Amino acid sequence: MKDILLELENRRNAARLGGGESRIASQHDKGKLTARERIDLLVDEGSFEEYDMFVAHRCIDFGMEENRPYGDGVVTGWGTINGRLVYVFSQDFTVLGGSVSATHAKKICKIMDMAMQNGAPVIGINDSGGARIQEGVDSLAGYGDVFQRNIMASGVVPQISLIMGPCAGGAVYSPAMTDFIFMVKDSSYMFVTGPDVVKTVTNEHVTAEELGGASTHTRKSSVADGAFENDVEALAEVRRLIDFLPANNREKPPVRPFFDDVDRVETSLDTLVPENPNSPYDMKELILKIGDEGDFYEIQEEFAKNIITGFIRMEGQTVGVVANQPMVLAGVLDIDSARKAARFVRFCDAFEIPILTLVDVPGFLPGTKQEYDGVIKHGAKLLFAYGEATVPKVTVITRKAYGGAYVVMASKHLRADVNYAWPTSEIAVMGAKGATEILYRSELGDTDKIAQRTKEYEDAFANPFVAAERGFIDEVIQPRSTRKRVARAFAMLRNKKQDMPWKKHDNIPL
Ligand code: HXC
Repeated sequence: MKDILLELENRRNAARLGGGESRIASQHDKGKLTARERIDLLVDEGSFEEYDMFVAHRCIDFGMEENRPYGDGVVTGWGTINGRLVYVFSQDFTVLGGSVSATHAKKICKIMDMAMQNGAPVIGINDSGGARIQEGVDSLAGYGDVFQRNIMASGVVPQISLIMGPCAGGAVYSPAMTDFIFMVKDSSYMFVTGPDVVKTVTNEHVTAEELGGASTHTRKSSVADGAFENDVEALAEVRRLIDFLPANNREKPPVRPFFDDVDRVETSLDTLVPENPNSPYDMKELILKIGDEGDFYEIQEEFAKNIITGFIRMEGQTVGVVANQPMVLAGVLDIDSARKAARFVRFCDAFEIPILTLVDVPGFLPGTKQEYDGVIKHGAKLLFAYGEATVPKVTVITRKAYGGAYVVMASKHLRADVNYAWPTSEIAVMGAKGATEILYRSELGDTDKIAQRTKEYEDAFANPFVAAERGFIDEVIQPRSTRKRVARAFAMLRNKKQDMPWKKHDNIPL
């Protein structure tokens, strides 16, 4: 028996060594952790249960029968994050470059199937040279099987991708279909075709980092939702994110203990909105002052900064926040911000996360660029997402809510449940200046008259009371008591149920 146990331990040690000491050293030299070190940091200590440690590929082409390392380039299994079940796969670059063979893909599919059956998130750590070249179409078939599972799992269990090395070619499409992608600065990249092909085809000279590094994907393309300095930080932040999310679409997000008085009054909020309606202020201050303990997990922080998306907790319960940011482009809606917020709203709705919308929006961004690039279609995404969402929706208008953007931003007309306005709100078709110039065009030369007309318009419309008279605003609230009012609204809505008409699926403008 002793020999048998020794044999098992020897095999395990061989598997744990992955591609060997020198390749592990080279991985470390690049500032990257190994597949197993990453899992150790991701899940609770001692909680990881590995599967398929001894799986090896069955390829016999190109001399591969002589090179059959245990595990086949990916470590898979399950563990817990703060006690809650998660499934994990972590590609091992030290083993055949983490390349994906038929058996490597099967290992990933196995834990994805388990995640679906048992209702728990899948976290994929990507660090791979792509399709195992020696396996040809068998490898592509493996990718296809993973893709199909990504699609089936979408909206059922949260799927999170960490990009911690190369991720190129069609391989990018598995993370692309997951809910969140996080990258590590300077050691990860994603692109469909690499710098060499780009140079040949378009004669553009670009580095891998410029083409598909973390900065590119968090600032320009919006492919990635966040970028971190190193593996350790990225893994810690995914642990933090998991704490906000439900295990699956039939469970509520976890309720955490909270140590922040729900009745906390924030007198500073009474002066958050400046007297000058054109002066900016930082909407993040309001988010931090509403949420429990000022804890805010921002999603896509570096992209379309004119809208803010992320998670807070209220009375320990997760709330998704969408907020216009007056500090950037006056908080205007445009193609990028509408797409960013729409995807976030749909994630929240799919996973039963209530949505808080903070509104200060002067309208949609004008210009040929916006129109030619399809602001009509992209703006409609956000409108559609809010209108179809059946989760509890609470909206607070702090200042401007003009025109179509007023309706889009979780207005009463899109089935929002509780709509509050601060006394500083202006809910109208447009601002006073623009309105006066249209209504009194013939008087434009007379500055006194125009000033008087503008004042009349402001007195009549630059307030929340016209909308409140009609019930489009449920209550005009004091800024200082926003946390309490919002928390009570969500508490009241905790058992909300709203049905949709039967349909196969909707046809959201893509
Ligand atoms: C088999 C691979 C491999 C691959 C790397 N390796 N990629 N083996 N199939 N796709 C092996 C290398 O032979 C090497 O083995 C080890 O992994 C480490 O690779 P290096 O090249 O030494 O590492 P590095 O210099 O860091 O370069 C990493 C790399 C490069 C940029 C990823 O390896 C590379 O360009 N690989 C090929 C990438 C590629 O074209 N893949 C196919 C993409 S198309 P040894 O034994 O020497 O250590 C695709 C389609 C997916 O993926 C389609 C889905 C539908």
